[in-house]
Amino acid sequence: MTASARAHANIALIKYWGKKDANLRLPLMNSLSLTLNELYTTTSFEIHDGPDEFCLNGQLQDAAHSKRVFAYVHRLQKMFAVSGHFVIKSENHVPTSAGLASSSSAFAALAGAFAQAYGLDLDKKTLSRLARLGSGSASRSVYGGFSEWQQGSDLTSVAVPVPASPNLDIAMLVVELNTAKKKTSSTNGMVQAQTSPFYQTWLDRNAEEITAMKKALEAGDLDTVGRLAELNASEMHAINLTAQPGFTYFEPATIAVLKYVHELRAQGFSCYYTMDAGPNVKVICSLKNCKNLEQKFAARFPGAKMLIATSGPGLVQFDR
Ligand code: PMV
Repeated sequence: MTASARAHANIALIKYWGKKDANLRLPLMNSLSLTLNELYTTTSFEIHDGPDEFCLNGQLQDAAHSKRVFAYVHRLQKMFAVSGHFVIKSENHVPTSAGLASSSSAFAALAGAFAQAYGLDLDKKTLSRLARLGSGSASRSVYGGFSEWQQGSDLTSVAVPVPASPNLDIAMLVVELNTAKKKTSSTNGMVQAQTSPFYQTWLDRNAEEITAMKKALEAGDLDTVGRLAELNASEMHAINLTAQPGFTYFEPATIAVLKYVHELRAQGFSCYYTMDAGPNVKVICSLKNCKNLEQKFAARFPGAKMLIATSGPGLVQFDR
């Protein structure tokens, strides 16, 4: 039996950065994201007689690179009392190699393909829970547009769709910087961040930040959405810098881009940054102004790769 699924990557406007249970991947806070149209993963899952295999972008992965995926599938097989060897083929569609972590789309697509291959008729909440067990951010990629991952407990820690005004014109300009530096994984980074003297403040502010973001989305207020997202990302990166020992995902080029966002704002352009567990920057702006901003960033940072993305769809499952 072969089935497949497609899921799009998401970028958090209010970030998940800390777990209360690593095995169940339960977060210490709620998070809220936008699923993006341009970045997605398609994954097929075939139950077969041979050994378990994982192919990524046409390349058969060795044991070390298949470990996380195999452990995840074995866990799901146990949960649903199903068995069988399998071949997983995953393709990451990232047009300009935007350097985005693809674990959100990857595990949402894998959860969807797995469920379809075994004929499990699961609702979105259950799919979100399964995706969460692979990668926390994947819980949100089950939905298109905006979604909130509510911290909950094992059965209730799932994402739900978040309404936004139809008048909200939002896009992200992904600015991929040319840096080869190896990053700290999000798993390790979010453990280390908890040693920051400001970590408790980060947690204490979460409910207020989520409420304010939802209100701004419903009002279609792009400037407030951008301002809140930029503040939240800066808080996350501040707790990394103030961890004991401190660390950062910033590279010199990252700072230059952040300063340029401030500069453009001072000139009257509506644009805001957000950043995840890597040096690249996503600039939040309206789709209508995105092309113009892209040209400005391209002129200022000629070595950077650029990608414009806007709201994308949720998980889709196929029978083949
Ligand atoms: O679930 P992970 O391991 O992809 O962690 C995601 C962490 C951030 O991207 C920094 C924030 C988020 O909520 O997506």
